[in-house]
Amino acid sequence: MRIPLVYRERPIFGFDLGTRTAKMIQLKPGGKHMQVMGYGYATFPGEAITEGIIVDPQEIAQALAPLMKQMSFGKITATRVAAALPVAKVFTRVLELPPMNPADLGQAVRLEAEQYIPVPLPDLYIDYETIETGADHSEVLMVAAPRAIVDSYIKLFDLMGLEVALVDSSMAAATRAIVASTPLDKPTLVADIGSTSIDLTVHDKVIRLTDTIAMGGDNLTQQLMKDLGIGREQASEIKYKFGTGPSGLQPKVMASLGAPLKKMCDEMRRVIKYYQDRGTQKRKIEAIIVSGGSASMPGFLEYMAAQINIPVTVADPWAGLESKHIQHVSKYDAPMYTTAIGLARLEGKL
Ligand SMILES: Nc1ncnc2c1ncn2[C@@H]1O[C@H](COP(=O)(O)OP(=O)(O)OP(=O)(O)O)[C@@H](O)[C@H]1O
Ligand SMILES: [Mg+2]
Repeated sequence: MRIPLVYRERPIFGFDLGTRTAKMIQLKPGGKHMQVMGYGYATFPGEAITEGIIVDPQEIAQALAPLMKQMSFGKITATRVAAALPVAKVFTRVLELPPMNPADLGQAVRLEAEQYIPVPLPDLYIDYETIETGADHSEVLMVAAPRAIVDSYIKLFDLMGLEVALVDSSMAAATRAIVASTPLDKPTLVADIGSTSIDLTVHDKVIRLTDTIAMGGDNLTQQLMKDLGIGREQASEIKYKFGTGPSGLQPKVMASLGAPLKKMCDEMRRVIKYYQDRGTQKRKIEAIIVSGGSASMPGFLEYMAAQINIPVTVADPWAGLESKHIQHVSKYDAPMYTTAIGLARLEGKL
């Protein structure tokens, strides 16, 4: 066994594995702002992840190998990762427990987990942290994730020669990145619109609610393929270049994407209404901030604002980061890195 006698700095980097795209970034504290050391993204075949479980780690490792060798911009030197689990697969709950001996807390949390989580305890990893201790009760944050998912991530990272420092929920990370760059001073819906899901959190001083809608950018690509009788590449190109924004193609695109976009907005409205009617705060949501790759589709945010009738802005998680020697991210790719940035911001804290 090697006994560590020398202090070694062991930095981390943020690794956001979506269902189609892996985004990574390393940040370094120092000075007023964190410095961007390196970042990049790569896509991989859609079948490699099923129900949140990485079923083909080899395929993902292979698809990401060129990026790991040479980041798109700068360099990632860390070999420890802060990774994100899909929020839809993570159970998070704040428990109110009577004051107790710290030694008994683990058992009490497990009893609560058994009651609230519809998955047998042996199939879960459970972690917890006391957030507040009062005279008559304490608040304990409980987070649980299916072992099959976490183990599949660890297997992938092993294969890539990486060590896991933390697995966080994707929306906890995305919201951290947004709050760090744009203080949220009113109740806000954060929507991460990825390839296959729209992940939502309601943020009102803290995260009050999370939800997931099983629709994303890939549904829009598929709809265009079907309705316009075109291939994937061409459909993606139309989506990226014109979206539903003003163009000669707008009537055709709207005829095709109108229905799925409306469905997405209706589902978001349903979550907003649920929070406003049932939440303990009874406060109105006054703003929507959108992250994820699909936030960059031309015309989408304007459409959303008109449908939901709440101002919509795109997340700017790069604000407050310094990238002196590295090319700044393109406007179109910027919102896609939100979750990865939220993870990388944990540098120095793990
Ligand atoms: N500039 C752009 N314009 C339109 N769509 C875009 C653009 N850039 C990326 N997308 C779309 O965004 C999606 C990828 O976004 P992201 O990387 O956030 O998803 P993911 O994390 O892989 O998926 P999920 O979060 O659903 O697991 C794809 O559907 C892609 O076509
Ligand atoms: Mg994602």
